[in-house]
Amino acid sequence: MAFEADWIAPAAEYDRDSAIIFLKNFKTKNKISSAKLLVTCLGVYEARINGSRVGEFILAPGFTAYQKRLQYQEYDATKMLKANNILEIEVGTGWYRGKIAKKAPKLYDAPCGLIAQLNVEYADGSTDVIATDESWKTKRSQVLFSDIYDGETCDATFTDKKARFAKKLEWTRKILIPEEGEIVKEHERLKPTLFKTPKGERVLDFGQNMTGYVEIELDAHAGDEIIFDCAEVLDAEGNYYRDNYREAAAKIHYICCEGHNLYNPKFTFMGFRYMRLLKYPGRVNPDAFTGICVYSDIKQTGYLKSSNKNLNRLFENIFWGQKDNYLDIPTDCPQRSERMGWTGDAQVFARTASYNFDVEKFYTKWLSDMTAEASDIGQIPKIVPQIWAESEGMKSWAFNNSSAWGDASTVCPWEMYLTYGNPDILKRQYKTMTGWVDYITGVTKDKYLWTGHFQYGDWLGIDAPEGSYEGASNKDLIAAAFYAYSTSLVIKAGKILKKNVTKYEELYKNIVKTFRETFPEYKTQTEYALALHFNLAKDKAKEAKKLADMVISNGNKLTTGFVGTPYLLHALSENGYADVAYSLLLQEEYPSWLFSVRMGATTIWEHWDGKKEDGSFWSDKMNSFNHYAYGAVADWVYGVAAGINRVEEAPGFKEIVIKPVPDKRLSWLEASIKTRCGLVSSKWVYEGDKVRYEITTPSPATIIIEGKTYRVKEGTYLF
Ligand code: BGC
Repeated sequence: MAFEADWIAPAAEYDRDSAIIFLKNFKTKNKISSAKLLVTCLGVYEARINGSRVGEFILAPGFTAYQKRLQYQEYDATKMLKANNILEIEVGTGWYRGKIAKKAPKLYDAPCGLIAQLNVEYADGSTDVIATDESWKTKRSQVLFSDIYDGETCDATFTDKKARFAKKLEWTRKILIPEEGEIVKEHERLKPTLFKTPKGERVLDFGQNMTGYVEIELDAHAGDEIIFDCAEVLDAEGNYYRDNYREAAAKIHYICCEGHNLYNPKFTFMGFRYMRLLKYPGRVNPDAFTGICVYSDIKQTGYLKSSNKNLNRLFENIFWGQKDNYLDIPTDCPQRSERMGWTGDAQVFARTASYNFDVEKFYTKWLSDMTAEASDIGQIPKIVPQIWAESEGMKSWAFNNSSAWGDASTVCPWEMYLTYGNPDILKRQYKTMTGWVDYITGVTKDKYLWTGHFQYGDWLGIDAPEGSYEGASNKDLIAAAFYAYSTSLVIKAGKILKKNVTKYEELYKNIVKTFRETFPEYKTQTEYALALHFNLAKDKAKEAKKLADMVISNGNKLTTGFVGTPYLLHALSENGYADVAYSLLLQEEYPSWLFSVRMGATTIWEHWDGKKEDGSFWSDKMNSFNHYAYGAVADWVYGVAAGINRVEEAPGFKEIVIKPVPDKRLSWLEASIKTRCGLVSSKWVYEGDKVRYEITTPSPATIIIEGKTYRVKEGTYLF
């Protein structure tokens, strides 16, 4: 449905960060058969008809490559209309005009624009269109301040008695697109406990590092104030610690009205487990507070469980990390002044993400933004949507992306294709996939490698000296390995789409050959993991043995960062060292996945040493406790421990290979995925030295149990 409406903006001068209510009174003439409301804005909005909220989308219209793609929502408002109506649409700064866009003046300096249109159809066949124009009015909302990073100020005693006419805004309608992603919604509701820190601060603990906001419900007097900010962790002494939020104030200031108050922020979200009360009228009743989790409406499809309590907590942390960071785009973290669609993070976690939840629609939207943002020469920006490239001097930095980050352009569509079986995603993304590979080919200093370019390397790998963000792995080796990997995915995708891929096949052969000549030896776990898992090492058996020895002599501890971690366990188990992979998975000492669990983590940390054994912190500059990247280990648990594997020739689990790899250190493990074909599950249980297997497949499957192969139809099988 196309928009006929005009863009409008307030004619009055309001504070730039206060929310504005656009309103329109109108009558309906007749019996209504249908009413559809179309809305979007430059910011984030909440629409209400006759005082009731329209739809459930929190922070609509969502976060896209705004200069090229701005989603609008379409709501069914048929049952909401009466004879006399008031349509109010409240607009906050959001991602568009908030501090998050400060480096993008074209967004940040934009006016508070709105475009909306209510199409009414009457039973007698006549129609009405109530569209934004200069007959609409504006007034200041009770939300006196809102910002994604900084929080919200709401004065429930405030009423703007002076509604003023809006003015027409010259703004393009060409960027408007129908909603593509999942809506962002409220989900779990968590109740807190109250405690006093050693410093005497009153803190609420919601028990879980979460993303969303806090609802307050209490009886109060007009003018009573509640002020709080939030944090993810406590320090070594048990005091409130929020230095890792950088420039995100994440603060709520609420001024009560007389009597009953029920408030939750409208135009912000925060990542937090704890909340510090800076002001509260009288005795604090924790029951007045509810943590509301807010994230994209992705449905859980994956389940992991084992006999090990800490491992189960790790699995939960992985699921929470995904929910907390899948708020319309895959963010790096939900708390500090970042919350960006970092390409590398999304790449690393894509397969796990697609098993844990149904993210096909979520990724389709985000990848379309990536395609919209890709440069003419195929560069993929570091973050998508790219809101940094807009500012003077930032463009070249923003597009100077690294391997493993830019490779999100090839890896993410490929993973979505394999999990959901729909080639459309490859069709839509193919040009961006080839564009990325061609870009590397065009800029590399040394042919068939990727040299002479900025690289993040093995980001946060811990084999470099403390304080360094980059691990010790050779950046050029990583870049060449991903160049090969992306090229191999372009070839596979191209063949499915019946494209001529000869050029890429040739390129791939040459990259592999050059890689082998240039990097005959490996010196870090990440280098081994990439060379092995991407099939680049010449003598895999020999190199795998060296990797296994390296891990064992390091006390069964990893040293990998963002780039190596997702592949390390695979590189070991693919080459006969599943036991060493299990040792890493089950390691409880630092550095390891279970170390963070032992330290009380309820989500995945950005750093292996985010919080150290003595309770001290790595650094406050870059220390998120809710970064999902290392949660990518779940794909090893689904794919190797439980042994559930997709088949490239029959994607979407139309065929399945199930090859569980049990380990006696766990007495049982179970994984399942609700696939497009039905539920696949794999469970193994130790009974003495023997293992019992229970496998359910919704599709024809090849089941490999202790070296024996069985071809089966759909059904449940016991071995
Ligand atoms: C983000 C990361 C991201 C990285 C790029 C950080 O600030 O939080 O997760 O991938 O920058 O190196």
